[in-house]
Amino acid sequence: MSSTDNWNDESDPEALLPTAEDWRRLAELRESFLAAEGGKSADSYWRSRRDFELYDATFAARIGWKWDAVLRELALRGRSPCGATVVDWGCGTGIAARRYVASVAGVKHVHLCDRSKQATWFAREALAALDSKLKLTLHAPPADEPIDILLASHVVGELAPQALDELLALAARARFVILVEAGSRPVSRALGALRERLKGEFDVLAPCTHSASCGLLAQGREQDWCHFFARPPAEAFTSPFWRRFSDELGIDLRALPYAFVALERRPTPAPPRGARILGRPRLLKGRALLECCDASGVAARTLFERDAKPLFKRLDRSGELLLADMRCEGERIVEFTPLVDG
Ligand SMILES: C[S@@+](CC[C@H](N)C(=O)[O-])C[C@H]1O[C@@H](n2cnc3c(N)ncnc32)[C@H](O)[C@@H]1O
Repeated sequence: MSSTDNWNDESDPEALLPTAEDWRRLAELRESFLAAEGGKSADSYWRSRRDFELYDATFAARIGWKWDAVLRELALRGRSPCGATVVDWGCGTGIAARRYVASVAGVKHVHLCDRSKQATWFAREALAALDSKLKLTLHAPPADEPIDILLASHVVGELAPQALDELLALAARARFVILVEAGSRPVSRALGALRERLKGEFDVLAPCTHSASCGLLAQGREQDWCHFFARPPAEAFTSPFWRRFSDELGIDLRALPYAFVALERRPTPAPPRGARILGRPRLLKGRALLECCDASGVAARTLFERDAKPLFKRLDRSGELLLADMRCEGERIVEFTPLVDG
């Protein structure tokens, strides 16, 4: 079997059989993504179909795990989007649309948009392999057609202002918008700035518990950024493929930081409720330090084990206890009631 016969079999990345040259090319692609940050380069970095195969089995797979975490959070919070028409903008190999379609029912038509038409071809094949009944179009819907869900993944950081306006124009026509990005400071803060521009028309579904201004964009918090950690699946720690990936590219497989925002166009925003725990709780002896975000801003709080005994041990498991009602005395959380239970 040639390495391209089953490129879309996400369950078996080892079938890709990367050569030494492939690993070198993946490192080069990674450099290209970083070089493109801030819209510094308008050139496409994709060179061949093999680039898409390699990317899809590695970086895109990791991005898929972030989408799984985001879509899981939306479902847990009872805030999953719905609708038949999805636009995946800057789609690359189409991982965002694939994870969305696999997780949320009701999608009938996916628009795959990318400045690289070869990327859209690859994404189309991958989507068709996932669900042969999907209608697939390789451009955005005409201006008079509504968009139910706009997805953009790992692209915001590389957009020049004009391209960002293009994305915002699509958002202006969408009912739901989900943006998932790398969990780095510049990209997360760029995402926060986008949230500020959109929140007038949209209600923020997640990660925030409110649609007020982002507490981490407040003065004096310039060094901070909103991010979370997804839990990679077991094979990321057990398979020789992922061990090789980690060795070749120097990537720590345990850390999967991401930033995201999910929005819904709604005349009346949902009332704020509870606080979202940001990042990862810092567990110390008998207490945990939590960065808590609510409508009043972001604040560091301490939860003592004796105040929340049965819950305490679950704090270090990402995706659990991410949202809670809290009663505080100063910095100390004296009552901690989870609002979702992962
Ligand atoms: C890092 S890749 C991410 C691909 C995919 N969304 C994912 O999450 O795996 C960024 C993609 O955005 C595309 N892109 C960059 N600038 C764009 C623009 N101005 N318009 C459309 N696509 C763009 C690139 O061609 C590339 O496929």
